[in-house]
Amino acid sequence: MIEFSHVYKTYPGPVHALRNIDLKINQGEFIFLTGPSGAGKSTLFKVMSAFDGCTSGQVVVAGYDLNEMKAKDLPYFRRQIGVVFQDFKLLPEKTVAENIGLSLWVRNEKSSVIEEKVKEALEQVNLIHRADHHPEMLSGGEQQRAAIARAIIHRPQLLIADEPTGNLDPKMSEEIMDLLEYVCQQGTTVFVATHDHSMVERRKKRTVSISEGILSGDIK
Ligand SMILES: Nc1ncnc2c1ncn2[C@@H]1O[C@H](COP(=O)(O)OP(=O)(O)O)[C@@H](O)[C@H]1O
Ligand SMILES: [Mg+2]
Repeated sequence: MIEFSHVYKTYPGPVHALRNIDLKINQGEFIFLTGPSGAGKSTLFKVMSAFDGCTSGQVVVAGYDLNEMKAKDLPYFRRQIGVVFQDFKLLPEKTVAENIGLSLWVRNEKSSVIEEKVKEALEQVNLIHRADHHPEMLSGGEQQRAAIARAIIHRPQLLIADEPTGNLDPKMSEEIMDLLEYVCQQGTTVFVATHDHSMVERRKKRTVSISEGILSGDIK
């Protein structure tokens, strides 16, 4: 469901953030992306989710060739992808339930449908009791669970998590990783960037590594 062929990304400078990336991932896989700060992990994810274009090469995700994608297809493509960040990116003035349902409100879904989907997402991440609280009242681990609920509410084919445990203590990190594995077991492809090597070793999943824009490891 993801295929990178000879992908380069060069920022002005020039900074060679991705160099000749080849990568193939099947639907339903769980993959770790490791590499030091500045290696190109976030750039790989931005290119994969069409938040940024590549400089050359081909990227196909969920059946879309991203170089060929029309602007009108972008919202449909985006619904196939959920993204989770290190710093949660929840809106502080909204409740947990409102944060999770926001994209559905923006799309003008019926409020009864939104309520049902939000409840289901909250159940999946075990946060029903926090629905009406604001993010600041939650622990870091709970905030990340809310962010995961927001990311999976569309039932995306792919969930990208960019250092999701970077701000969490070890116990909360384990809970978040368990939850991401659970999301994968429901059929979603899950791609997790981290520099926590001990966690990667414990979980025994497919792993690719990036260093100075060059991807290595289990790339095919
Ligand atoms: N928008 C940008 N403009 C210029 N350089 C960038 C931009 N985004 C990232 N970079 C550079 O690209 C390289 C890879 O960055 P990044 O993908 O964020 O790495 P990582 O997520 O592994 O820490 C770094 O050298 C970074 O400074
Ligand atoms: Mg990064």
